[in-house]
Amino acid sequence: MTGIMKQTDTKSIVLGITGGIAAYKAAELVRLLIKQGMEVQVAMTEAACHFISATTMQALSGKPVLTSQWDENENGMAHINLSRQADAIVIAPATADFIAKLAHGMADDLLSAMCLARDCPLLVAPAMNRQMWERAATQRNISLLKADGVGILGPDSGLQACGEEGMGRMLEAAELALGIASCLHPKQMQGVKVLMTAGPTYEPIDAVRGITNRSSGKMGYAVAQAALNLGAEVTLVSGPVALQPPAGATVVRIETAQQMFDAVQARASDCDIFIGVAAVADYRVAHASAQKIKKDGQGMTLELVPNPDILAYVASLPKPPFCVGFAAESENLRDYAERKRRAKKLPLLAANLAQEAIGSEHNQLILFDEAGEHPLPRSGKQQQAQALLQHIIKLRG
Ligand code: CTP
Repeated sequence: MTGIMKQTDTKSIVLGITGGIAAYKAAELVRLLIKQGMEVQVAMTEAACHFISATTMQALSGKPVLTSQWDENENGMAHINLSRQADAIVIAPATADFIAKLAHGMADDLLSAMCLARDCPLLVAPAMNRQMWERAATQRNISLLKADGVGILGPDSGLQACGEEGMGRMLEAAELALGIASCLHPKQMQGVKVLMTAGPTYEPIDAVRGITNRSSGKMGYAVAQAALNLGAEVTLVSGPVALQPPAGATVVRIETAQQMFDAVQARASDCDIFIGVAAVADYRVAHASAQKIKKDGQGMTLELVPNPDILAYVASLPKPPFCVGFAAESENLRDYAERKRRAKKLPLLAANLAQEAIGSEHNQLILFDEAGEHPLPRSGKQQQAQALLQHIIKLRG
């Protein structure tokens, strides 16, 4: 049987693509949903296949794309099987025609049959010309869908593929991914303010050179995304990374450890949870040169002075937020990590072996708290982030 298997905490989405020019945005949407830790099964109408190829969607989702009701593997039951295994069906883009079919309970192809047979939430992202959107018939159909409990994501207004301007453009993939995540995840962190650091810091030596480290920021950004999914308000103080910040987070970009410290200090009294994921440089150059230093053939000594310890500062505030530290060790993981947790007076510290995590999409954290150690199974950084947040929620009661 093709289709998707449900796993704990991993959300399974059926992404239905119908025939509109905005179908190209569905490719990016699949990528973003997978990055959020979801499994995506793509189903396309025949018209959708004229706009984007099933091969593209298969490569991005890692699963065969379903296009026909008459796939022999599914025994004619794809419309039932798929919706039973899904946490939600998302139609993006949803054409005016497909919205009309949904509103009236038609089921003459795989995707519409699946929507009618579903026992999970249905989300629809309309995409059409502005006249088609404003037409009374479409607005009637949208009202019917809303009354039936279907979630409508967008549309947006702006320049359309036909050259006209107005309402009807499909939301961008990042906005859709955020909307889908917030419909799916229970809001266990609604109203909780999370302040975090992520990525490396960069300590200048001169105008063009500096000291930094190999942190990619992926783990920190995954934690930010997971907290957003749970409804938290996230402020992410980030060092220089080549990552798209998660939509919905307030991002403060800094370069040096001192700038990271200043940004955190200004916000630390107004947060419930502080998570230090950043790989902060422990030292900076005492006298960085404003100009590029010229070589003179001789050796060179740099004087380094310690940077403030941001996490230790926050954890020692008179009324500290719930503080979580990270430790990347290259050896003696358990010993060093637990010592670090106690030294910085942290209720929780997540540790991993640096050589296994840096730059990788995967990680294997061990969580250290007062009760002892809790190893997580190796998985994608998004899943590790979800598990870490569940542990934080448990400890905070
Ligand atoms: N941290 C911080 N400010 C610093 C240094 C570290 O906030 N100046 C935070 C990191 O974000 C992380 C934890 O502290 O959460 C790491 O602890 P630390 O003992 O500083 O780790 P290392 O720098 O790796 O320490 P060592 O070199 O002793 O292993």
